[in-house]
Amino acid sequence: METLATETEVTSMPRIGDEAPKFKAVTTQGDINFPDDYKGEWVILFSHPADFTPVCTSEFITFANLESKFNKANCKLVGLSIDGLYSHIAWLRTIKDKIEFNGMKNVEVKFPLIEDISMEIAKKYGMLQPGESKTQAVRAVFFIDPKSTVRAIIYYPLSLGRNFDEIYRALIAMQTADAFNVATPADWNPGDDVIVSPAGSCGVAEERMTNTDELDCKDWFFCTKKLDKDEILKKVLKS
Ligand code: BEZ
Repeated sequence: METLATETEVTSMPRIGDEAPKFKAVTTQGDINFPDDYKGEWVILFSHPADFTPVCTSEFITFANLESKFNKANCKLVGLSIDGLYSHIAWLRTIKDKIEFNGMKNVEVKFPLIEDISMEIAKKYGMLQPGESKTQAVRAVFFIDPKSTVRAIIYYPLSLGRNFDEIYRALIAMQTADAFNVATPADWNPGDDVIVSPAGSCGVAEERMTNTDELDCKDWFFCTKKLDKDEILKKVLKS
């Protein structure tokens, strides 16, 4: 049986705006039915190359340490690698018992880690990129919204550990865009000004340039407004 990924097997991958591909999986927290088990909440599905590897270990400690912060933003975490369940269990136990990273220790990974020895899920989600590795998943991050739509995707190569502050920032930015019908500029963080959707008519363009109370327009197509950080957090964070 051929177990390595071929070019054609990985060319199909979910795109932004697609419904998240469905699968059933065995995880370290029991069986899951994805994405149906996560309807009504955000979920970050992420892959890592392998258990018992250092970069992945540093990522798991960091993500597990941030899990409650993501949960408060109505977001669950689900990991995946092309390893078996018993390897996952042994690795997570080792992390808790022995590994300290950046001052974090005794960290228990409570979110599900999917076993994917068959590579079926990794292939479905384009996590296998043969130019990088034919047997290990790249570091993929899929942001899936409460209606099971893929909203953002980030890929990193095997050697590069992810920035989890950026993953959280992206989540809150998308939730803010949905809740307030705005967009967020480069390097935005809650409390910074947000972008008002572009003027769709000449009349609105003219109005934007004359209404200086609420909007700050650099030009008719580039208008920002204030959005209070507390207002955002009240809306997107669970109390
Ligand atoms: C790591 O997690 O340390 C790693 C995994 C695969 C390739 C390179 C590094």
